[in-house]
Amino acid sequence: MAKSNRVAVITGGARGIGKGMARTFTKRGIDVVIADKDGDLLEKTVSELKTAEASIYGFKADISKVDEVDKLFDFTMKQFGQVDILINNAGVAEPLVPITEVDLKIMDEIINVDFKGVFYCSRRAVKEMKPRKSGNIINMGSIDGYVSLPGVVYGPMKAAVQRFTTVLARELASIPIRVNCIVPGLVLTELMEELSDRDVELMLKYVPMHKALVPEDVANLAYFLVSDEARYITGSVITADSGASADAGWHAFGL
Ligand SMILES: NC(=O)c1ccc[n+]([C@@H]2O[C@H](COP(=O)([O-])OP(=O)(O)OC[C@H]3O[C@@H](n4cnc5c(N)ncnc54)[C@H](O)[C@@H]3O)[C@@H](O)[C@H]2O)c1
Repeated sequence: MAKSNRVAVITGGARGIGKGMARTFTKRGIDVVIADKDGDLLEKTVSELKTAEASIYGFKADISKVDEVDKLFDFTMKQFGQVDILINNAGVAEPLVPITEVDLKIMDEIINVDFKGVFYCSRRAVKEMKPRKSGNIINMGSIDGYVSLPGVVYGPMKAAVQRFTTVLARELASIPIRVNCIVPGLVLTELMEELSDRDVELMLKYVPMHKALVPEDVANLAYFLVSDEARYITGSVITADSGASADAGWHAFGL
């Protein structure tokens, strides 16, 4: 596929959904910088994903630290001179415990990565996108952002990301910089490793399509959202969840 002359920054791209995004984007000619706090994995992923269709770089950064976010974007601007796409994908989840047992350090980490990191990266990306009068930001939400699943920090932070998406989309619409949010269903990545095989089996029993996603399913939706075919889609929070959020709990009544 021909080069698209677009540059994407993908946070948390060393593994899981972010890695799937990086693979999908580079294969389709979009240059990519993947940022991750795990430097060793980042290096491995970059060499694995190297392709003739586009350039790919890794940059070690903790996106919960504003100075590291600035260095990430300085690096991207130095390499490519532009940022067209930001995928705010890096995220952390918590052990599922009652509120009285929540470790406050873990609480801070989730707030700092899942919300503040998204804020810092978006803020800097918008600075680079505005003069070019175009850009796309994709945030990663979660079903936990809509529905009250166990986990008293992660779900509320994802709900905040989902609202941040619509507020920022409104602010930037006239430029236009488009801002959308993908809400994945169950994607079997390392983030989900706390779930036992039985948990997964139970979850999939009640998911209407009875299927977990692979990272590329989420990446394909992101690729569409950043394309011209989606030019009037902004402020949308879009599920790719095998019908999970459509079920609305009615299975509990045998319906
Ligand atoms: N897997 C799912 O089923 C699922 C469902 C709904 C939403 N999500 C969301 O999708 C996104 C990706 O999930 P995943 O399953 O691929 O996760 P993952 O844990 O497999 O990968 C996350 C990556 O982010 C990196 N990361 C974590 N904290 C970081 C930080 N402070 N700075 C930079 N990098 C950091 C990790 O090193 C890792 O490489 C997350 O935002 C997650 O909340 C996942």
